[in-house]
Amino acid sequence: MTDQISATEVAEQQTPATASTRKVFVKTYGCQMNVYDSERMTDALAKDGYEATTTLEDADLVLLNTCHIREKAAEKVYSQLGRLRDMKKARAKEGRDFMIGVTGCVAQAEGDEILRRAPAVDLVIGPQTYHRLPEALRRAKQGERVVETDYAIEDKFDHLPAPQKAQTRARGVTAFLTVQEGCDKFCTFCVVPYTRGSEVSRPMDKIVAEAERLVEAGVREITLLGQNVNAWHGIGPDGVELGLGALLGRLSKIEGLARIRYTTSHPRDMDDALIAAHRDLPKLMPYLHLPVQSGSDRILKAMNRRHTAAEYVALIGRIRAVQPDLAISGDFIVGFPGESEADFEDTMALVRTVGYAQAFSFKYSTRPGTPGAEMDGQVPEGVKSERLERLQALLFQQQTAFAAGCVGKEIDLLLEKPGRMPGQLVGRSPWLQPVNVDAKGSEIGDIVRVRITGAGPNSLFAEAIG
Ligand code: SAH
Ligand code: SF4
Ligand code: F3S
Repeated sequence: MTDQISATEVAEQQTPATASTRKVFVKTYGCQMNVYDSERMTDALAKDGYEATTTLEDADLVLLNTCHIREKAAEKVYSQLGRLRDMKKARAKEGRDFMIGVTGCVAQAEGDEILRRAPAVDLVIGPQTYHRLPEALRRAKQGERVVETDYAIEDKFDHLPAPQKAQTRARGVTAFLTVQEGCDKFCTFCVVPYTRGSEVSRPMDKIVAEAERLVEAGVREITLLGQNVNAWHGIGPDGVELGLGALLGRLSKIEGLARIRYTTSHPRDMDDALIAAHRDLPKLMPYLHLPVQSGSDRILKAMNRRHTAAEYVALIGRIRAVQPDLAISGDFIVGFPGESEADFEDTMALVRTVGYAQAFSFKYSTRPGTPGAEMDGQVPEGVKSERLERLQALLFQQQTAFAAGCVGKEIDLLLEKPGRMPGQLVGRSPWLQPVNVDAKGSEIGDIVRVRITGAGPNSLFAEAIG
């Protein structure tokens, strides 16, 4: 069972476990925002006396933090719930409690439906109400089956505990920080505007305070998160309206913070100040995840992306002009309704023009309630599979070429964790690639100068220099 449901990276508390300590196992699906949320929920439950565990058998409470983006992701949850139900029955025979909670985007999208389909579930909580988790848990323990999927009026971030030093340390030298949630773009294939609600930015001072706290606890690299992170906007100390470029500028003044990244961006929100940040801020890593989804203008229009393929390519050109070292990453969907072979060829052509260092590509999945689900011209599964294969072959070729092009370069490496071999450490290149290095005398959290000596399919090899 444990290998069926592998643990997310949850922190161990500092306090030693006692026989009476209750334990929570959190399984995270989906995007980095869910990873961040899982950490915040773990912190909130720690205040309530729950210790995080990575062993399912030890858990008194299991939370599945779910993703609704594609059908497969959502269905996975129900198969896990089937296994957890059996476990709950076995526990009941021993007279032991075992509570099951569903959080995240499936919780938001399906609400009570989850209780109907999976009677073993005790509580269902959507992403906007995680700060109510301890209270919901109390009600569930009294036998109520709790569903919390309202969009809370209060800001959940004001009510969730900020990252604590001990937990942050245990999580490592890199951290996620959510700065923006929700989406108003309504791409016709996408559930996010329905599961995460409309766009909300956290205030600049709260973000800066959280970043400073992370750095005090030893974090060297922060990745700012948002469904549309570059739609972030806020008010500066002098009352002036600011965008993500200004926020990055402010964060890069934090001493001890060595590297900053952000994800995921929408092409429509890449403004001049953000592009300038890539020129002006040495701490901002030369890596940009900028999904385009398709290279066909007809399909882009049907997707409601509100830009053309040429505009996207021109935008990449403008960013590369100020930061020639930039690695581009993207997301693609094949087989959106109405996509012809010629449309798909336009996507292949765009990929050849841009040259991606990294990419994620998916077969279109019809999502209930989205406009795409009602569109004519749904593409047969076989055609989608065949196109995905061709696209992934091209993207893999580009990724391999990018990695091979790194061999011989001297770069700074942030050491993140022990490697497989004794004395070896694994770090990340500025372009987010894992790099293995023999770094004797160096520690996790150090930034070391290395020369890239080799490139494997998923990671690089390097030697320390100087
Ligand atoms: N906010 C980001 C994307 C968030 S979802 C953006 O605007 O780009 C992450 C990725 O999942 C998307 O970029 C898209 O490629 C993919 N995706 C979203 N809905 C999908 C669907 N219905 N079928 C297949 N892939 C989908
Ligand atoms: Fe989904 Fe589009 Fe919003 Fe991205 S921009 S989260 S793809 S609706
Ligand atoms: Fe999935 Fe929700 Fe993230 S649908 S991709 S977990 S915002």
